[in-house]
Amino acid sequence: MSNIGSYEEKYKTFDWEISAEELEYGKNGMYNIGYYCSDRICDKGFGKKIALIWQGFKGETKTFTYDDIRIYSNVFAKFLKDNGLQDGDRVCIFMDRIPELYISFLGILKMGSIAQPLFSAFGDEALFTRLDDAKTKAILTTKKHVRKIRRIREKLPELTKVIVVDADDKSLKDDEIAISMENAPRVEHFDVFKAGKETPSVLHYTSGTTGKPKGAMHVHASIISQYITAKWVLDIMPDDIYWCTADPGWVTGTSYGIIGPWANGVTQVVLDSGFSSENWYQFIEKHKVTVWYTAPTAIRLLMKDGTDVVKKHNLSCLRHLISVGEPLNAEAVLWSEQAFGKPFYDSYWQTETGSIVITNYPEMKVKPGSMGKAFPGIKATIVDPKNFEPITKPGTVGLIALKPGWPAMFRTYWANKELYDGKFKNGWYICGDRSSIDNDGYFWFVGRDDDVINTGGHLVGPFEIESALLEHEAVAESAAIGKPDPVNMEVVKAFIALKPGYEPSADLELSIMNFIRKKLSPLAMPQEIEFVKSLPKTRSGKIMRRLLHAKEWGEEIGDTSTLEDD
Ligand code: WT7
Repeated sequence: MSNIGSYEEKYKTFDWEISAEELEYGKNGMYNIGYYCSDRICDKGFGKKIALIWQGFKGETKTFTYDDIRIYSNVFAKFLKDNGLQDGDRVCIFMDRIPELYISFLGILKMGSIAQPLFSAFGDEALFTRLDDAKTKAILTTKKHVRKIRRIREKLPELTKVIVVDADDKSLKDDEIAISMENAPRVEHFDVFKAGKETPSVLHYTSGTTGKPKGAMHVHASIISQYITAKWVLDIMPDDIYWCTADPGWVTGTSYGIIGPWANGVTQVVLDSGFSSENWYQFIEKHKVTVWYTAPTAIRLLMKDGTDVVKKHNLSCLRHLISVGEPLNAEAVLWSEQAFGKPFYDSYWQTETGSIVITNYPEMKVKPGSMGKAFPGIKATIVDPKNFEPITKPGTVGLIALKPGWPAMFRTYWANKELYDGKFKNGWYICGDRSSIDNDGYFWFVGRDDDVINTGGHLVGPFEIESALLEHEAVAESAAIGKPDPVNMEVVKAFIALKPGYEPSADLELSIMNFIRKKLSPLAMPQEIEFVKSLPKTRSGKIMRRLLHAKEWGEEIGDTSTLEDD
């Protein structure tokens, strides 16, 4: 028996109050996520239960009970407060997947600041853009990554505290401070900040087609959605060992890698090392993982290595498998049935939605290739791209649209209300994805409705790549698009027109690729560069990415006169 039981019945009778009541949300005026993910679990008598088993890349492990994460998050909360940080200040977390990342996240929330997690593989430029936009006050990092901050700190006047969590004082510069979570005096009691439901909690940066990445602002009440979706979709039960493979630099890693699981009081495992099938299966077998939340790209990589390597391990511990971030192709679902004896259940959502909105449920029939149905409490449809009216004819492709108002929905884009307002049409929040709905109400994903590149489940903005490319000495003009890739779905391809005096060469290609990898991230690095004499432009001089995209995907280009008028 699953937690949700009958989907149809739950959909009919659901109210978010059901989740709030289970959480006892608001009891004694407490709404803070940090409290619900640590103190509350201890108050309920589970202080000795294991909250986190962490495994590093050398295979070393560390284990933390709920009592430990309560006390260590207090340590961070007190430290930040003692250092003058206040509620509402943005505090960035910039580190690999070490225990301090997960625990300081709660600490930041507990003292009332806003947690701004950023992917540790970001280079100087990607980091700068996001810290500059958020006017971030403090950053928590490690010795390994502090160098990047040193290189940009001068340009960030608001960034007053650089805090290193694994350093001795000697390795630091005068204007940096150290804290050691495990060696600092234990903080048995911390007065958790009395956040309201609508108090900002987490700021996640995500990429759009134009302009810089934007910060999706979430509030403490998001836990109402994250708790119940973790319980009903991921089907987390008290004795589970839960593994979310996502990095908390992205929303999956916070909504379902911290908040959802810990609000449910489950034991979760974290693997802080790169991908290999052998490593992953060993990890599942060793820790007896029962619930596994991962992404299609990872599943496709596992598929490539075949079922022989699966059979070398005892993976009978696995009970429920869920996928997110990109289209889960039917082959991957069927392969998973062969390899693990159970299908992957697809789930769809976004940084902006904060929690799963369309998905498959344990006791619902899975149609391989479909994303499933709307979560109880979510009204989802597809609308006509011209008038934003719901489309009722099954099988017609339209834009995915959601009725605003569920607790985890973002409240604005940081310092960009205009862009936020533009996401709503005719009373619907427009996700920016195309899909159809079949006769049974299942959603079938078709594609994005913009130029954002989805590589391995990570969104990369073409504008950010193009801007960075222009900073390379040889580049005159550039366009970045996604090109088809069998594993990552899409990878970045750049079209480049060179400045006079530069000639295309393999060396130059490599130099440009490395330039982007270092400045932005390995994800944003073009896997292919095509040197061109010039780029197709609209009459107003805008580069026609869509034309390049259509050519690359072998699609009809159609009437280019409309493109030219863009
Ligand atoms: C975009 C959101 C979902 C949290 C992690 C990514 C794409 C997401 C699916 C799915 C097809 C999917 C959409 C969406 N996407 N889930 N199950 N099938 N596409 O959050 O970085 O904000 O990306 O990822 O295009 O809009 P994100």
